[in-house]
Amino acid sequence: MTIDATARAHPNMALVKYWGKRDEQIMLPSTGSLSMTLDEFPTTTTVQLREDHGPDVLELNGAVAQGEPLRRVTRFLDLVRERAGSEARAVVRSRNEVPTGAGLASSASGFAALATAASAVYELPQDTRSLSRLARRGSGSACRSIIDRMAVWHAGEDDATSFAEQIEAPELAMVVVVVDAGGKKVSSREAMRLTAATSPFAAAWRASTARTLEEMLAACREGDVERIGELAETNALRMHAVIQSTVPSVRYLRGASVGVFDAIEQLRADGLQAWGTADAGPNVVAITRPADAAAVADALAGHGEVRVVRPGPGARLVDERVAPVSTGEVR
Ligand code: DP6
Repeated sequence: MTIDATARAHPNMALVKYWGKRDEQIMLPSTGSLSMTLDEFPTTTTVQLREDHGPDVLELNGAVAQGEPLRRVTRFLDLVRERAGSEARAVVRSRNEVPTGAGLASSASGFAALATAASAVYELPQDTRSLSRLARRGSGSACRSIIDRMAVWHAGEDDATSFAEQIEAPELAMVVVVVDAGGKKVSSREAMRLTAATSPFAAAWRASTARTLEEMLAACREGDVERIGELAETNALRMHAVIQSTVPSVRYLRGASVGVFDAIEQLRADGLQAWGTADAGPNVVAITRPADAAAVADALAGHGEVRVVRPGPGARLVDERVAPVSTGEVR
């Protein structure tokens, strides 16, 4: 049996958002979604089997992690062990290459890298579909980070049919605008539950997103960048609308975020094509054509730190290892 394996995965940015679960136990989403895997901000994760029967250990960005992050990784490894018929515990070393406080640290790249490395060491199936299904169990959006470039996540009916796969789409670029580097107060998972439990608009969100996904898939097939941008912006604003309609209200967008959406609208009025989106946090991402990315980045630079990103690779095994926190000793 392989003793250790290392994988790298990147975050993804949804153009049609996943917001809500039909089954939280096996992480089935209430609707399908569609995203671009980024070529920046990778997570690299080494999974090393323990030979001394000690507990699972998580080392995150050079420090030993405890509490909820460790519990989440252990729960995920329990599933891996159950499938592999193994009792072996592991040391997981993970490094995020996100500029400090960029607000992009994502569970998507983390669980995509972990699923890929763990499948190698525990000898589970390593085809793209199996990895996507497994990554989904750690964090829903992680199933899309397994995939190269552009991914659709089929909502599916059960564990076997809920996975992401690659789609053809025109070349896009994104400009990430970091307006606020602070962490979020309410996790996506928690806010999704609150949406289902308290928002009078939850059903309308699900129905409209299912329609938007069909329209987005058609726009991708047709290479219609303008339509992709319009659909993505509307879908993102609808997601934030349904999130704000919870009791108590959760608001991820700040005044500065709204300022970026305004600036993007002004860019369009000035003849530059860009459309806004935002995940469960205050930072805004402008979707644009690669040829316009530098101009859009220049125009938005006054609103926060900007970074141009392009379509990137899905999760894969790599040769290097993430270094242990201390002197190589396994605690
Ligand atoms: C706003 O995948 O982080 O980024 O499945 O509960 O781990 P869990 O949630 P997560 O939610 C992502 C929400 C989103 C939209 C998206 O990426 O589609």
